[in-house]
Amino acid sequence: MSRKPIIAGNWKMNNNSQKSVELIKGLKSGLDDINASLLPEVVVAPVFTSLYAVNEELNKCAYSKIALAAQNCYYQDHGAYTGEISIDMLKDFNMTYIIIGHSERRQYFGETDEMINQKAKAILANGLLPIICCGETLEQREQGITDKHISNQIMQALEGISSEDTAKSVIAYEPIWAIGTGKTCDADEANRVIKMIRETVKNLKGENAANSIRILYGGSVKPETIEEQMAKSDIDGALVGGASLKADSFAKIVKGAMAKASV
Ligand code: 13P
Repeated sequence: MSRKPIIAGNWKMNNNSQKSVELIKGLKSGLDDINASLLPEVVVAPVFTSLYAVNEELNKCAYSKIALAAQNCYYQDHGAYTGEISIDMLKDFNMTYIIIGHSERRQYFGETDEMINQKAKAILANGLLPIICCGETLEQREQGITDKHISNQIMQALEGISSEDTAKSVIAYEPIWAIGTGKTCDADEANRVIKMIRETVKNLKGENAANSIRILYGGSVKPETIEEQMAKSDIDGALVGGASLKADSFAKIVKGAMAKASV
């Protein structure tokens, strides 16, 4: 079963519009010489306030090799929810994906598994695709409860979502202790956890959903680590933080996933 790999850059709370456009221009020229059919899906997730400018920049070519993601959304369509942004509003910017349940949102903004499930359902109902993040803390890993914790997060996130919608969705396994620390999870171990997530999806939603859903690894992904990670059977791509903020390092990561993209 071949799944199209995804390399997604989560810019987090970085870059105003001007810097975002500079970064996207750099990335575009870094990927210029490569035929789109050889590339993995390339996705960037700028801050909300840069989406307009980045989308305009991407629209300058007839066919963009780069898709857009948002870093968050609210699940209601509209109403008295000060400071929130709905999925319908994000569709103004040609959005393909929305990242939900990032550990930083869970940790600093109180995002719960129930909210993540509501967001996932609303994203799919609006015709977009969720990138659902999961991952364990160092403490949970040391206690030996990594698999239990993650399968529980996945079970709750996918509650009430059909097999067909699950098949189209994306999961990102991001061990919290590997995020922004420079400490990458061993590729075999990341692959083991991702296989366990796929097995969980199979038990919940059936074989087709499990074989189709793309599961990414995130946590200190760098140009030097991507090839080993992508060589593993179940790692379908990467969700990249720090290394996606420099056009050349992100382009190198994208290129490091090309071997799998053309299988
Ligand atoms: P780093 O690549 O900076 O570790 O961040 C990973 C991440 O959180 C992506 O969502």
